[in-house]
Amino acid sequence: MDLRPYDAAEEAAAHLKSLSAAPSVAVVLGSGLGAFAEQLVDSQIVSYGDIPGFPGVGVVGHAGRLVIGQIGPGGARVVAMSGRAHLYEGHSASVVVHPVRALRLWGVKSIVFTNAAGCIHPDFAPGELMLITDHINMTGLNPLTGPNDDRFGTRFPDMSDAYDPVFCDLLRQVAASHSAVLREGVYAGLKGPSYETPAEIRMLGRVGADAVGMSTVCEVIAAHHAGMRAAGISCLTNYAAGLSSSPLSHAEVKETADLARAVFIQLLNEGLTKISEATD
Ligand code: HPA
Repeated sequence: MDLRPYDAAEEAAAHLKSLSAAPSVAVVLGSGLGAFAEQLVDSQIVSYGDIPGFPGVGVVGHAGRLVIGQIGPGGARVVAMSGRAHLYEGHSASVVVHPVRALRLWGVKSIVFTNAAGCIHPDFAPGELMLITDHINMTGLNPLTGPNDDRFGTRFPDMSDAYDPVFCDLLRQVAASHSAVLREGVYAGLKGPSYETPAEIRMLGRVGADAVGMSTVCEVIAAHHAGMRAAGISCLTNYAAGLSSSPLSHAEVKETADLARAVFIQLLNEGLTKISEATD
């Protein structure tokens, strides 16, 4: 990206403004959740390639398109990011968070991040969903390093409520109303792409992580910095390294994400609608 991050985000936002008014809520879809975007009605699809600065996305199961549309009858109008850029693909933190900032300047106020994660907490199991109540940034990177652009936000943002407590409550309520299991815990975000070693997982468990993945933390930092209200949900796709005898594989991550998809989509449909209603 040659432009400064704010100018780049403004350029992307100008393109989005020329296409449609911004919904108040966005959702970033993790691997295997593209079906959420496909069920939106009256939808408008924008390929990432057509939005200035949006990165190409390389992982199987990540489409690389924005879908603007409505969640069924009576549901909220939302924008879904189907596919995201990851640090492990070689993108800088600034490139990874560019779409989030572009959505902000377009006019999106709230954003829900989803991802696939390995479970560390001894009571959690693959196939379950976990509400992210906090994170530990283990990427060694921060999208806010470098000159601060006050037009986004303050130099030293407080991160205490980065995962909006009201949104967390709304998501808990939706899960409870369906008697669906919604674990909650701390997500540790690493750069990847290798999965962790068993020793790293023991360390992460001791420092308070309940799940581990390779996304989300930089995006949440940028969203919070820019004044967006955020929430996060992990699909626990596997036991983290050393916690089961089978080796980790992306195929297993995808298979489990596919099994949890129907419940996940229902939680998103109702949760995003409530979050949209709660967004000023
Ligand atoms: N570790 C890191 N990232 C992941 C995992 C994991 O076990 N599962 C899904 N994404």
